[in-house]
Amino acid sequence: MTYFLAIETSCDETAAAVFTDELQVLANVVASQSDLHARFGGVVPEIASRAHLRNLLPVIDEALRRAGIALSDLGCVAVHNTPGLVGALLVGVSAAKALAWGLGVPLIAVNHIASHIFACRLAAGRDIFPCVGLVVSGGHTALFRCESALALELLGGTRDDAAGEAFDKVAAILGLGFPGGPAVEREAAQGDAKAYHFPRTFADDGRLEFSFSGLKTAVMYACYGQDVKRAAPPPPGPQRANLAASFQAAVVDVLVLKCKQALRKTGLKRLAVGGGVSANRALRAALDAMCAKEGAELFIPPLALCTDNAAMAALAVEKWKRGQFATLDLDAEPNWL
Ligand code: KG4
Ligand code: ZN
Repeated sequence: MTYFLAIETSCDETAAAVFTDELQVLANVVASQSDLHARFGGVVPEIASRAHLRNLLPVIDEALRRAGIALSDLGCVAVHNTPGLVGALLVGVSAAKALAWGLGVPLIAVNHIASHIFACRLAAGRDIFPCVGLVVSGGHTALFRCESALALELLGGTRDDAAGEAFDKVAAILGLGFPGGPAVEREAAQGDAKAYHFPRTFADDGRLEFSFSGLKTAVMYACYGQDVKRAAPPPPGPQRANLAASFQAAVVDVLVLKCKQALRKTGLKRLAVGGGVSANRALRAALDAMCAKEGAELFIPPLALCTDNAAMAALAVEKWKRGQFATLDLDAEPNWL
């Protein structure tokens, strides 16, 4: 049995996990920094890096404690080195390199986006490949043909904002605070999704691309009119809830439609969905209904494996089996797609 330690510091969660070469997750610890970033209305990269520096070693210690193993029991160290905020990634990469070197064990570099899809494999407990993969997070919205856990071919991405970014910005427009996704979802639950008709960009053509920036602007105009300079967020009540519900419906419609088009285009019958936005219950329900109609199998991990975490880096086991190890000059790569 080989024990793996995995580290995630790509954005504003400091996370460490311990798992085995049989994909048994023994610990999955996440320290959120959202309180630190809330008053700025978004993630401040420098604050994120400093918080990772403070939190990472205690988070690793806690993961080892929960797994009931010692540092010296580890047989491999894995780290998400791309994509993400470069300063934030560097904290995880530096720690992983030091640990792997100190322990004399292999170091494995893992792609954060591929890990979001692998979270579906981890949760399913069985093979899910080949499949269509949708990653919907704060930084990415993209569809992939996933031949295997490590072979991802991009089918299409977003032209501008990511879906999670749109949730966060609309939350700011509506005065719902940060992080925006869960706040918009809560507000939407009280509202009428048909109250406003917001744009479904690229819905009428077959291209597997997304654009959410026009939608965000449409919400802003519906909220404030054209005179955005004198704007104040709408107070709690039906108008705010209706705006949230109608916005969420537009995002969900487009994501579900593009997944359906990707399934038909590739002829694949499995859909794996990952990233923070896949925690959204309206999206999960709509994907479920679409897949049932298409005769496709849907894989979405439980909420704790949708948002950023280090357990999904169990993708490292696939690389470990193939001897795909990183060297100590491994760098953080902010951009991937
Ligand atoms: O995957 P993730 O944790 O971090 C990135 O890699 O970006 O995704 C974070 C994003 C944020 O934009 C957040 O607002 C969104 O996921 N999110 C949600 C929900 N929970 C998190 N969006 C919609 N509904 C949710 N329930
Ligand atoms: Zn992520």
